[in-house]
Amino acid sequence: MHPFRENVVILTGASSGIGREIALQLADQGAWLTLAARDAQCLEEVAGECRQRGGRSLVVPTDVSVLAQCQALVDRTLAEYGRIDTLVNNAGISMWARFDEMQALEPFHRLMQVNYFGSLYCTYHALPHLKRTRGRIVVISSLAGKTGVPTRSGYAASKHALVGLFDSLRVELLGTGVTVTMVYPDFVASEIRKRAYGTDGQPLGDSPVQEDRVMTTERCAQLTIRAMAKRQREDVQTLRGKAGQWIKLIAPAVVDRIALRAIQRGK
Ligand SMILES: NC(=O)c1ccc[n+]([C@@H]2O[C@H](COP(=O)([O-])OP(=O)(O)OC[C@H]3O[C@@H](n4cnc5c(N)ncnc54)[C@H](OP(=O)(O)O)[C@@H]3O)[C@@H](O)[C@H]2O)c1
Repeated sequence: MHPFRENVVILTGASSGIGREIALQLADQGAWLTLAARDAQCLEEVAGECRQRGGRSLVVPTDVSVLAQCQALVDRTLAEYGRIDTLVNNAGISMWARFDEMQALEPFHRLMQVNYFGSLYCTYHALPHLKRTRGRIVVISSLAGKTGVPTRSGYAASKHALVGLFDSLRVELLGTGVTVTMVYPDFVASEIRKRAYGTDGQPLGDSPVQEDRVMTTERCAQLTIRAMAKRQREDVQTLRGKAGQWIKLIAPAVVDRIALRAIQRGK
């Protein structure tokens, strides 16, 4: 009934949005959580809620773009719980700007550093311990990891890079008992767009998405935890995403138009 009871889970990006909700729902199952992100105060608030719901939780403020901090995240988890059963690479940042209008290239570096290298660093340090527990690696990609999306060039590149890394790692891990689950959400209502890089490299401040008309973080977390529990290879979370995969095989230009329309409509 509760596959994550006393399961030791490192969860990055736990201070907000999808990560916060995954933490709360895993706490409902009695998971033993390590919550990571940069904002220590938000993490403490999430940890408090998790304890009230029945989970254990350790807060480790972490910038996943810094290798030494990812190692410290793993070390602190081992010191607290003695093992690692699950790593959820969820921390991420985004952009909302056309490539030809970008005034600086720093956001492209930062997107790779956080979205791609952040997951790589945490996985590298956690992997020997996950092999001992025949554990789970979970990666929150995006439909922008499946196909190109206008205004998301750097974000889509970082999410495609994750797919290359983790689809390869999955094959290397055959026979070890460690599984890799890739999660591909569609639009989910969260803070990510407000924080996303605009053309000037600054946060947008406002969301161009109709946040009240897209998937909730609660639903996204439910689907993600279900896929984690089943050790699914991947979880494409909407009908649009599922259909898009098949359409892309025979008529990729149709998927381009679906992506353009989604950005124009903001949902
Ligand atoms: N919302 C969507 O529509 C959507 C769709 C598809 C995929 N996703 C993916 O879902 C994941 C979660 O996004 P969200 O929508 O929940 O966004 P969010 O509300 O902005 O949360 C992002 C989380 O990542 C953390 N983070 C950002 N930079 C970090 C860094 N350098 N080191 C450690 N943590 C960092 C943030 O915490 P701090 O700021 O405290 O560090 C926050 O906890 C991301 O990987 C995103 O790409 C989201």
